[in-house]
Amino acid sequence: MPWRKPFVPPASLPRSDLARRAYEVWISEVMLQQTRASPALAERWTRWMERWPSLGHLARASENEVLAEWAGLGYYQRAKRVWLAAREVWEKTEREEGKGTEPVLPGSVEELMKLPGVGRYTAGAVAAIVFGQPAPMVDGNVLRVMSRQMGLYADVNKDAKNGAVVWAAAEELVKAVAADGEEEEEEVNERPGLWGQALMELGSTVCTPNPNCGECPVTATCRVYQEGLVLAGKADGSG
Ligand code: ADE
Repeated sequence: MPWRKPFVPPASLPRSDLARRAYEVWISEVMLQQTRASPALAERWTRWMERWPSLGHLARASENEVLAEWAGLGYYQRAKRVWLAAREVWEKTEREEGKGTEPVLPGSVEELMKLPGVGRYTAGAVAAIVFGQPAPMVDGNVLRVMSRQMGLYADVNKDAKNGAVVWAAAEELVKAVAADGEEEEEEVNERPGLWGQALMELGSTVCTPNPNCGECPVTATCRVYQEGLVLAGKADGSG
């Protein structure tokens, strides 16, 4: 997918490159809330990026232009909120840093979530993938993967309490993932973004509603898988 790019620590990116990267990932994540990744979606994303190559360009477009470009991607409120958020970041940058300064999305979950249409999923995705923050990103796929791993045996989409349990666990996990290994003190690295995206991919390819456990690399830690074996009479969980 064209929005997938190698992680570069934000501190070593020129402001305009960081701005562009954050903008790219944000738009891709909003589009991915509508539809699954596909060549058609990649094409739409590329077209959007060509039309408005930066957040500043988008902010200066008209609402109607943005809504028209969104045609076919469903749920126009999302497009409207993307435009409103772009305007907000652009205006704030001009106010605080002067006209002509490149607007950059904020790098923390807390600041991102203040923007129109940016919920904790989108905020987490941008903070982790672009800014290397140990931020959780729990979409429907991750919700399913993690509730199986934890043995929640609940419809996490229907029960908000279980959703909260998964979000809390995802936050602890991504912090541990970020701190693991050599860069123990280094909180900004590529791991949080890779981790979150790997979980999403596991959920969309293997740990699907009708899962393919034979292909799964993490059955050893999966409570539902292990307990399923026990229920099937293999009390030691083998095979
Ligand atoms: N689904 C939504 N965003 C995604 C991403 N960045 N990687 C994998 N799956 C996703």
